[in-house]
Amino acid sequence: MQVQGQKQKHMVIYGGTGFVGSKIAEVFSRQGIQVCCISRSGGMPRQLQNTQSEWAEQVEWLQGDVANPDPELLAKTDAVVICVGSPPVPTFSSKAYEAQYAANGGGNIALVKACKEHSVKQLIIISATLPSMFKTERFAYYKGKRDLVNTVEELFKNSDTKVSILFPSVIFGRRYTKSGKPIPLGFLKYVSGTFQFLSRQTESHFLKSFFAKAPVSVDAIAQLCLSEVLEGSTTESVRHIENQDILG
Ligand SMILES: NC(=O)c1ccc[n+]([C@@H]2O[C@H](COP(=O)([O-])OP(=O)(O)OC[C@H]3O[C@@H](n4cnc5c(N)ncnc54)[C@H](OP(=O)(O)O)[C@@H]3O)[C@@H](O)[C@H]2O)c1
Repeated sequence: MQVQGQKQKHMVIYGGTGFVGSKIAEVFSRQGIQVCCISRSGGMPRQLQNTQSEWAEQVEWLQGDVANPDPELLAKTDAVVICVGSPPVPTFSSKAYEAQYAANGGGNIALVKACKEHSVKQLIIISATLPSMFKTERFAYYKGKRDLVNTVEELFKNSDTKVSILFPSVIFGRRYTKSGKPIPLGFLKYVSGTFQFLSRQTESHFLKSFFAKAPVSVDAIAQLCLSEVLEGSTTESVRHIENQDILG
């Protein structure tokens, strides 16, 4: 809800039609924030069409590429949320490796550089936490995510821009195919509950950190993004929010 006398906040969500991005869009829009969602396909996601959801009608669904952001949009917005990425799958050709790197690193790096150039006040980035065996340059997903975080650290340390980087493990919630068919991932919440229970039971630091990598809900991520936008006062320019902090 917009507080009387306060300017309505404006947010741009890159990847706003995806699983995570569309949930963040919903939570922001329901809060009275003006939301603009960018994706290559553009338009409202299929599952929302014909539902006449008030929050979705209020969102601006635009076509665009993260690698080539619109400077006018960046100049007028209060915050940019980055939810662009591709699934962490292995690659078996240099072409596939480059595509995986571009989806998780290259394109997003172009966007954060543009955000710096246009003095965007706040950035929220959905990154990922990975098991240590995947933290290798041979895995383009990891290299893309790592290079993005390093670029952000370099560009925004000691800057006035507030940056929050979230490092979730697997995310559960209701996901949809591009054609609007639901893919329920809700069962992962039971796995998440078990992990959290085991984490509380053990005294071992190793097991505690292992179980802390429990799946997190898409709702928890969206709520965390909202509180970063509404309350996100912190002395650090770049804040890392680890999986266990999202679990709460
Ligand atoms: N899902 C998980 O379990 C999980 C776990 C940890 C971290 N993450 C991270 O969270 C982020 C979001 O994941 P997700 O599951 O929501 O992915 P998703 O459902 O595949 O959504 C990706 C979104 O990005 C858009 N997109 C892709 N390339 C783009 C480009 N070049 N320019 C503009 N938009 C582009 C897609 O729409 P178009 O294809 O129409 O462009 C879509 O809106 C990713 O960085 C992912 O690595 C996800």
